[in-house]
Amino acid sequence: MSRFLLTRTLDEHAAETALRDDVLHGLTTTPKTLPPKWFYDGRGSELFEEITRLPEYYPTRAEREILVARAAEIAAASGARTLVELGSGSSDKTRHLIAAMPALDLYVPVDVSESALAGAARTLQAEHPSLRVHALLADFTKALELPDSPGPRLVLFLGGTIGNLLPAERAAFLRAVRAMLSPGDALLLGTDLVKDEGTLVAAYDDAAGVTAEFNKNVLAVINRELDADFHPDDFAHVAVWDAEQEWIEMRLRARSELSVKIRALDLVVPFEAGEEMRTEVSAKFRQERVAAELAAAGLELSRWWTDAAGRFALSLATAA
Ligand code: AVJ
Repeated sequence: MSRFLLTRTLDEHAAETALRDDVLHGLTTTPKTLPPKWFYDGRGSELFEEITRLPEYYPTRAEREILVARAAEIAAASGARTLVELGSGSSDKTRHLIAAMPALDLYVPVDVSESALAGAARTLQAEHPSLRVHALLADFTKALELPDSPGPRLVLFLGGTIGNLLPAERAAFLRAVRAMLSPGDALLLGTDLVKDEGTLVAAYDDAAGVTAEFNKNVLAVINRELDADFHPDDFAHVAVWDAEQEWIEMRLRARSELSVKIRALDLVVPFEAGEEMRTEVSAKFRQERVAAELAAAGLELSRWWTDAAGRFALSLATAA
């Protein structure tokens, strides 16, 4: 008997429209910007997995360290019978938590990648044959319709992905999560923490150049999906720390004056020599800011765990 269900709430057409809107808007404003969600086609997801294994990229290892050390505490504090994971990807780190939750009945991974969902579900079910898995192919930044699920529920948002949202998007996202929670439910949120600039910049500008390739992958996505003619080598990878906003910014800098044709939009985009286009922000947090942003969304920070080196945090929050 299969204990795996998949519900598709994404339609191809909507995704293509969203990319067109984002590219049209982002490349015709000054400074130019592209949202980071378009990095993650098959190749981009592969490159991200490679990033998580780089010596400079500590967040994945730091978060896994916390999950391994605190799984039993998290399981006990939440008492969850349903685990919902937003942006579940390979569900790799989640396995530590699931192993510590004997009362868990249902796992609901939510992701935009069907192959990631299917692969993760397969592995988890092999390890936990009695666990029901109901995967949702969905964009977690849109309103989510959860399947019938026994409470209490624990919603996971790991990896520091909340840092890739701009402050107003973060506020809207946390309010949407709050709206998913019933009394007794909780949110487990992963956030990378503010630390010295050298460590941060190295994590986003690795010596092997994997992050540079990941950054430029968005150009390949636009070339393929919107029939554009970006030459990735015409752009340099840039990672800078913005001390005021407390975020890392990834940019692509035009190496010379050039222009790009985006045929599907009937658009020609000029770049000046040295012009920089923002492709990602990755916000870094302090405990006070996490607590304040949760509170503004009607959530109360109840537990705070970091790795031994204090690089990354997991927060447990409940409906206030
Ligand atoms: C794990 C998706 C949050 O911001 O650190 C990695 C993505 N960007 N290297 C992050 C990313 C550049 C990443 N997230």
